[in-house]
Amino acid sequence: MFPDPRIVVSTAEESLPLAIRELELDFGPEAKVEAIGPEMAVVTAPSLSAQEVADRCEAAPLVFPRHLTVEVALLDADADLDRIAAAALAAVREAALPPSLALQVWVSGPSSYEFGPAAVFGAIAAELDAAGYAVARSGRRHVLSCCLTPRGILLGLNETRDSLSDWPGGGVRLSKSRDQISRAEFKLEEALTEFGLDLPAGGNALDLGAAPGGWTRILRRRGLRVWAVDPGDLDERLARDGQIKHLKVTAGRFLHSNRTVFDVAVNDMRMDPKLSCELMVRVAAHLAPGALAVVTLKTGSREVLATVKACLEILTGPYEILHARQLRHNRHEITVVARRTDAPAD
Ligand SMILES: C[S@@+](CC[C@H](N)C(=O)[O-])C[C@H]1O[C@@H](n2cnc3c(N)ncnc32)[C@H](O)[C@@H]1O
Repeated sequence: MFPDPRIVVSTAEESLPLAIRELELDFGPEAKVEAIGPEMAVVTAPSLSAQEVADRCEAAPLVFPRHLTVEVALLDADADLDRIAAAALAAVREAALPPSLALQVWVSGPSSYEFGPAAVFGAIAAELDAAGYAVARSGRRHVLSCCLTPRGILLGLNETRDSLSDWPGGGVRLSKSRDQISRAEFKLEEALTEFGLDLPAGGNALDLGAAPGGWTRILRRRGLRVWAVDPGDLDERLARDGQIKHLKVTAGRFLHSNRTVFDVAVNDMRMDPKLSCELMVRVAAHLAPGALAVVTLKTGSREVLATVKACLEILTGPYEILHARQLRHNRHEITVVARRTDAPAD
């Protein structure tokens, strides 16, 4: 009899207990969920597959798991690059994978290895290449994961569609552009990249809590006219853009008098998350049916799971929840992507 697969879940370090709790609550007492590193847990249950865990993470949704793989080997922390590469090739051969696959390497927790992820990637890629495999960094049906953890080198294999993310350990890397206005930009960029969101090519966007204007800049770059709502100031680089309308009022006051219909709404307001969701219910009446909404919920660090649940319940109805997850660039917050349903909002 085969042992149950060990499904390895990656999460933000400070959210590991929350991810474990979410998994325990969702999969019940049959499932064993244990921490195996500062930002990793393993889930095992009789005949539980990575596909089932991925499907539950998306559907429930479970917001703290960020990446999944299935452990195929755990090498001692003293393994050298040759041993790691040989073990990786053996694992790929044993799984009889097609000759093209993605390889993703990352470090989890403090590292005392003499080599970093780039050297490990190079060694494994060379070994696979010599054996006739075409190795990419992403965008393939299968992913070979290699994670340098304090307790050893973990090798994992999974289908990309069951991995939650096509980035090493779910860690989307973005580089700062020269014209970046705020670090908050990374949050919207990451949501767009990670969930492959299609923003409308033109039309009207509503940006609630817009100042200093990072998200507004991203929306403008994608060709949308932006209503930037925030009592705070926008960066002066946005001042001359005639396609940005800055309304220096609170979101509630703006909605009270607004008559424009928006094709997309984003909300990064620093606000109690339930109040923010209640406001989004009002926003739905100002959105075209099917319009996308991206919201960051500042969940804080107390009663987080209950808060997330309550927030998603408030949004459900006027919106269909497409994704909800703590992304790499979120701190004590989660990002929700929702679509306005066709039903008329109150
Ligand atoms: C994290 S910042 C937004 C950063 C912005 N997304 C960017 O990329 O530059 C949060 C903003 O929410 C705004 N805010 C808080 N409460 C608000 C309200 N009731 N209406 C509108 N804006 C609000 C604050 O003034 C602050 O500028």
